[in-house]
Amino acid sequence: MKISTRNLTKTYQDADRQLKVIHDLSIDFPEDCSIAVVGRSGIGKSTLLHLLGGLDRPSSGEILYDEQNIAALSNDALSEFRGRNVGFIFQFHHLLPEFSALENVAMPLIILGTPEAQALEQARAVLDRVGLSERLEHVPGKLSGGEQQRVAIARAVVAQPRIILADEPTGNLDLSTARDAQQLLLEINRELHNTLIVVTHSAELANAMDSVVEMQPGGGLTIQRANRTSL
Ligand SMILES: Nc1ncnc2c1ncn2[C@@H]1O[C@H](COP(=O)(O)OP(=O)(O)OP(=O)(O)O)[C@@H](O)[C@H]1O
Ligand SMILES: [Mg+2]
Repeated sequence: MKISTRNLTKTYQDADRQLKVIHDLSIDFPEDCSIAVVGRSGIGKSTLLHLLGGLDRPSSGEILYDEQNIAALSNDALSEFRGRNVGFIFQFHHLLPEFSALENVAMPLIILGTPEAQALEQARAVLDRVGLSERLEHVPGKLSGGEQQRVAIARAVVAQPRIILADEPTGNLDLSTARDAQQLLLEINRELHNTLIVVTHSAELANAMDSVVEMQPGGGLTIQRANRTSL
């Protein structure tokens, strides 16, 4: 699925002034590619990712999944759309603490209406894929940081979303654990042929992606490096 923005603008309104984080951004992210978004702290990278994934609403402009403008969907339709098409991975895993790894990964499918037995079966297969078949019943608090992030990756991909959005997915891990998680994310992106957009401060992770774009003040994106098929 191709994801694009048209004249995308996001302005935060504080008490007495407007903060224009993204202004009139139009860009196309083709399907089946991996893109790193880099840029200094506070520039608007997370804001952009949240808009792309429908976690937040633009002030104006369009966000197109193929031809569908998700900014025009009602709240209910947008959450349904998100559940079917978007996988999120955050810096901190955001797993549900009282549920097992298996239940956490099955959750997106159950929310989509998949019968529980089938959801658990699919979750088991994905946890096996990320190397955690021995940790199915562990709650997040009993997993290591790297394992927690692998569960979060499994949860993001279990419903086979067309888009995976990751916000500093390995920022909280030590170098070698971060490398493993990065590798896994890229492998899964290639296996599923989806679009992977990753915000990262890691030059190593950015280098491993097809393309790198740098965010500028006002939310413009300049291409630092582009693979012909990806940008
Ligand atoms: N809900 C909000 N209300 C007002 N201002 C906000 C809000 N969310 C973010 N901002 C401001 O918008 C700007 C962009 O924030 P954002 O979180 O997108 O930056 P970032 O590039 O992800 O930074 P970092 O690399 O530190 O995560 C920041 O100046 C921030 O203070
Ligand atoms: Mg951020």
